[in-house]
Amino acid sequence: MKRNIIVLDTTLRDGEQVPGAKLNVNQKIEFARQLERLHVDIIEAGFPASSKGDFQAVQEISRSVGDHISITALARAVKADIDAVYESIRIAQDPFIHIVLGSSNIHVEKKFNRSKDAVLQMGVDAVKYAKTLLPHVQYSTEDASRSDFDYLWKTIEAVVKAGATIINIPDTVGYAEPGEFGDLIRRINYRLKNINDNVILSVHCHNDLGLATANTLSAIKNGADKIECTINGLGERAGNTSLEEVVMALKVREDVYQCMTNIKTTELLNTSKLLTHLTGLDVQVNKAITGENAFAHSSGIHQDGLLKDKQVYEIMSPEEVGADSMELILTARSGRHAFKNAVERMGFSLNDDAEFEQLFQKFLELADLKKEVYDHDVFYLVTGYREHSTSQNQLYELLSFQVVTNDLYPTAAAKLRMGDEIIKGSAVGDGPIDALYSVIKTLTKLDVHLQHYKINSISRGKEAVGRVNIKIEYKGKTYSGRAMDTDIIKASALAFLNGINAALLDAVYNEEQRKEEIRLN
Ligand code: KIV
Ligand code: ZN
Repeated sequence: MKRNIIVLDTTLRDGEQVPGAKLNVNQKIEFARQLERLHVDIIEAGFPASSKGDFQAVQEISRSVGDHISITALARAVKADIDAVYESIRIAQDPFIHIVLGSSNIHVEKKFNRSKDAVLQMGVDAVKYAKTLLPHVQYSTEDASRSDFDYLWKTIEAVVKAGATIINIPDTVGYAEPGEFGDLIRRINYRLKNINDNVILSVHCHNDLGLATANTLSAIKNGADKIECTINGLGERAGNTSLEEVVMALKVREDVYQCMTNIKTTELLNTSKLLTHLTGLDVQVNKAITGENAFAHSSGIHQDGLLKDKQVYEIMSPEEVGADSMELILTARSGRHAFKNAVERMGFSLNDDAEFEQLFQKFLELADLKKEVYDHDVFYLVTGYREHSTSQNQLYELLSFQVVTNDLYPTAAAKLRMGDEIIKGSAVGDGPIDALYSVIKTLTKLDVHLQHYKINSISRGKEAVGRVNIKIEYKGKTYSGRAMDTDIIKASALAFLNGINAALLDAVYNEEQRKEEIRLN
């Protein structure tokens, strides 16, 4: 009989710790909804004690996702963190608290400067307290793969006795080796089953040596029933275990693992693309499953073999992960029905007729410009539209612009709207984008600094859509902005304004929080 492996996605917690991958609340909700379509079992939505913004995001995600998905969030082994997790996830249908505490000598001695027994007691007390709030508690023995086994087991035994219902074994620094990690999981699993058969054994691996997928699979072979991963392997340093790799390995090599997951694999590519779109962090082209070349065969020998029979060189079909080979190319003449079909085939559910009509108008505008509209374009059209319509981030709106470029004085003029006010001006710069950004900075009167600018072509066809991702620094904080358009200069202006609007919204939010704190004190 096949074992079911529980999949926890931690893209919004561990993945989001990557510098530059910070998402705003609306983007997090958009991504959480996609995780729902992917059918992950659990979303780790954030680390609520880390900031008010994170707390609010976890709360909104708990409110927004459906009933069949469980929500958790991270707490250190202290009451304030546990309270923050509880308050932010309590409205979810099936919430549980996740507590983390170091178990290796180096963590105990260097991080806590306490005795091993004192640290163990901290963990036990934290679990006991969390259990007064919710029935399910996960306990992570941070840096487990570098921990002394006897102390690790003593900790696990004590926290299970205190009520932990999931034990998570992290390879926090990506140090483990597959054979060794498998042995560790086998030993723990054997003992755990003897003390309490209902406790779930979970693993959480990092990819510092490129072994996160191998270690996770080895753990599954040795008894782990739950895995923690991120989309595209996003995460600090070399990242976390890549969800798509483990899930497809279990599927393609079911003969070896005898395991299954609930993941709807045809949503894998959409989820990966959405994450790339939201974070601006591209996937390497040869990345397994979600890289652009993952299913491309260029050598003549391979192409010849594939034409004879796909199985000659293909161990899984692109369709299985959501690359639709039956892609229909839409045009302005395709009509409402074909467009609706494309939107729904991608897994988006439309909120109402009004939303559909607005999307359809956007589609017609794009089809006029681009002539041929691919799935890629429809995907970005829907996600882009939702991002804009839900984040009220049109604080500054671009009304029109003009750029004149030459090798003497590249010049840009722009007209912006902010509420009822219309402002316009012009500036010169070192190049066309520099001139455009100079005029926008002058008009908005904000002292922002461009830190990063990236442009990609995101679709096929003669008239490709350009996606621009930028990062700006404003008052010591970094904000990202993104936009897409067939006109890359316009996309550049919109991305810059999107970043500026994010900074302004953050300032408004912080001011409201400050007033609220004054009111409460
Ligand atoms: O890497 C790690 O140890 C973690 C824990 C919080 C599970 O992210
Ligand atoms: Zn981690």
